[in-house]
Amino acid sequence: MTSVRRIGVLTGGGDAPGLNAVIRAIVRACKVEHGVSVMGISDGFIGLVEMKARELGLADVSGLLVRGGTILGTSNRGNPFRYAYRRPDGAEELVDASATAKKNFDKLGLDCLIVIGGDGSLSIAERFWREFGIPVVGVPKTIDNDLSATEYTFGFATALEVATSALDRLHTTAESHHRVMLLEVMGRDSGWIALHAGLAGGGDVVLIPEIPFKFEALLAKFRARERRGRPFSLVVVAEGAAPVGGAQVFAGEDAVTGWKRLGGISYQIAREIETMGGYEVRATVLGHIQRGGIPVPTDRILATRCGVEATRLAVTGHFGNMVALRSDEIVSVPLAEAIGHLKRVDPDCQLVRAARSIGVVFGDEEPGAVDRSEG
Ligand code: F6P
Repeated sequence: MTSVRRIGVLTGGGDAPGLNAVIRAIVRACKVEHGVSVMGISDGFIGLVEMKARELGLADVSGLLVRGGTILGTSNRGNPFRYAYRRPDGAEELVDASATAKKNFDKLGLDCLIVIGGDGSLSIAERFWREFGIPVVGVPKTIDNDLSATEYTFGFATALEVATSALDRLHTTAESHHRVMLLEVMGRDSGWIALHAGLAGGGDVVLIPEIPFKFEALLAKFRARERRGRPFSLVVVAEGAAPVGGAQVFAGEDAVTGWKRLGGISYQIAREIETMGGYEVRATVLGHIQRGGIPVPTDRILATRCGVEATRLAVTGHFGNMVALRSDEIVSVPLAEAIGHLKRVDPDCQLVRAARSIGVVFGDEEPGAVDRSEG
């Protein structure tokens, strides 16, 4: 019999399709298999600092498999170690509220906290485990698929589906108008969504943060397609992409935490292509549509498996670990080893090489190679 009687669960950072499926799996596994109670903490770590929590039963998670977002709410500015405290005069300042979070963890009578989050939230979880001894278990989540300890994160497959379907739609209108169409997708400093969507949706050019690009290569590709009687092109742009010697483009910055949000590079690229090549160009920034809505079956299954395994780790006392997908098995890895290692696209990986083999241009090619990319 386990000594763990009550588990807390929170979702932190940007939401991802499948979060609710994890919550459902945790609650169901706790009730059906382990006889353990579950407290849902609201709005990520903010809920632990501000003591916002509620008991979750089977009825609370009914129908959640298909629901996007997170019923618990989330935040990417809730780090208790750098907490944005609102003063009576309305101004915000960063304070260390970690001791309050620890006190509230104890007040809630929790024996373990399952943290479902990306690298930021998992790093906070690891710090609570290391500095306060709070028993934590992590579940990796991000549409960006950029955590190196796990092969895939839930949310990625749904984001990819949305991005691919957007490309399919842009394809027909690009062809009708003989235009260059840009689709900007998310991913922060990694190009996984762009690379996969580019392959699945027939992108002619794929621009990712890992491969700085030259405009000349893009224009050479458009010209080569024209020569082949294809006077339109599809360009997939990762939000973190940048030209050789250029910088990433940010859409905004949180005045208090300093967190910078990427976005808008495709508008700059569109202007440049218009000016340099005389093409008619349109840019679409897909944005948060990639993160919302119904998770695809792959994400629901992965999320469920992660939730079940995280619960097992929690009730058996395997704290300080995170679940991870490796060779189609859910395994556990120490949080300390899992955090802080961004998984980026290796420019020489098989996926990039396969894309190059079928003529996809990444913007780093020599002009001769671009000419050959259209046969
Ligand atoms: O990490 C997930 C992600 O969707 C990134 O791809 C994107 O850059 C960022 O979050 C957007 O954050 P926000 O929801 O704060 O705009």
